[in-house]
Amino acid sequence: MARETWATRLGFILAAVGSAVGLGNIWRFPWQTAENGGSAFLVVYLGIVLLVGVPGLLGEFVIGRRANKSPVGALRELSGQRSWGFIGMFSVITGISLLSFYSVVGGWIMRYLLESGVSLVGSDPAYFTNPGQYFGGVSAGADAALYHLLFLGLTALIVFAGIRKGIELGTKIMMPAVLVLLGGLAAWAATQPNAAAGYAFFLRFDPSVISENFFAILGPAAGQALFTLSLGAGTMITYASYLGEDRSLPFDGSAIAVLNTSVGVITGLVVFPLLFSQGINPTETGTGPGALFVGLAGAFSQLPAGTLIATAFFAVVTLAALSSSISMLEIPVAFLVDEYDVSRKRAVAGMAGLVAVTGTVCAFEPSIFGFVAGTLVNILLTAGLAAFLLFVGWVMGRDAIEELASGAGSLGRSLSTPWLFAVGIVLPLFLVFTLLTHFGVDGSIGFWRTVGIAVVASAVAFFGLRRPESVV
Ligand code: TRP
Repeated sequence: MARETWATRLGFILAAVGSAVGLGNIWRFPWQTAENGGSAFLVVYLGIVLLVGVPGLLGEFVIGRRANKSPVGALRELSGQRSWGFIGMFSVITGISLLSFYSVVGGWIMRYLLESGVSLVGSDPAYFTNPGQYFGGVSAGADAALYHLLFLGLTALIVFAGIRKGIELGTKIMMPAVLVLLGGLAAWAATQPNAAAGYAFFLRFDPSVISENFFAILGPAAGQALFTLSLGAGTMITYASYLGEDRSLPFDGSAIAVLNTSVGVITGLVVFPLLFSQGINPTETGTGPGALFVGLAGAFSQLPAGTLIATAFFAVVTLAALSSSISMLEIPVAFLVDEYDVSRKRAVAGMAGLVAVTGTVCAFEPSIFGFVAGTLVNILLTAGLAAFLLFVGWVMGRDAIEELASGAGSLGRSLSTPWLFAVGIVLPLFLVFTLLTHFGVDGSIGFWRTVGIAVVASAVAFFGLRRPESVV
């Protein structure tokens, strides 16, 4: 059967933006910003998105479009080596890990959406009375597992429908809805009393906070930049594999980064004024995955028409989360379809069945959830992107330049040589360094973990530097 492709020019951009815009922008970004010094974090994060994110995104695009295959097949075919296929296998594991916790958070969101929607007629949503206690009750256990299955089921339905009729059509509807609703919420948030304090916390630039905490901010900011751009898991390799040669990758990549970052910033323009208008200081609401739910739910409860606002907000977040979760499920699904000729239907059923189980474990065990959503994902994404970029720089080499230039204007072509230098050398070094800082800052790294990371990093570098004769 012929491989599917995107139907329209806009289709690919919207699908990739849909993947990028998600819980990372709405749930993780404000929480990380609050935890890491407000505007200082924003500045470092924006810098990394620009200097690492955009070239990194192009790296994944180049691999995917060159091979027209998902990561495992792409790395194996372009290198002519089986061992690269094994490295590609990590993307399958990463996709499954990501979806396992993401689907649980998606479930929380749907839970809040239903609770708010039902309360549009009748009494206040239950979480208005005691947001902390409510979140505690629904975030783990049977409730969380049930809503995780609901969210996963919706994800599976869209992926099941295929690239054009599922992912492309779905994101074409979901993304404009997200942008319009979010814009409306931001405009409305501006009218709230004391909104200015929220803007100040979020936007006032204070260089001393950066210089004093640079290394502490670096790890989380880099992790956030990769997570939000969906980098390091092969999602963007997979999406680009359905792409024709006539698209300008530099143009599409920049458009995706700009749109994604704008949504992150607009979310901040909703969340921070809202919190401050209700006298909630995000640095004091405590940390952890519940911070946004508890803080915002508290703010909603004090607002006139709070239930309506809450319903709109959670509807936005549900759509944004779904357009991301489909991109996670598509990684292992494309792997089965491409490598084993499994039908899309069976691949979706099998992989969704697997994540139904792994996600349920996350839903019942907050400690496992925390490990997967935090440490594990950080390691997999950072190491994954480093491996992909080493591949682009050292295995693809000139081919990568050619691929990047195809369909790109003269500006894109002239940038391709410095770009290759960046993705082959500078960015992998930065990523490995970040990985280490991240652990160091955590304070949780012991001797054996340091050794383990060093071994993995050298193995990746070793494979990356072995340029096979079959290519060139
Ligand atoms: N970028 C998405 C978000 O911000 C999450 C996501 C989707 C993702 N696909 C990914 C993260 C692949 C890492 C890798 O919510």
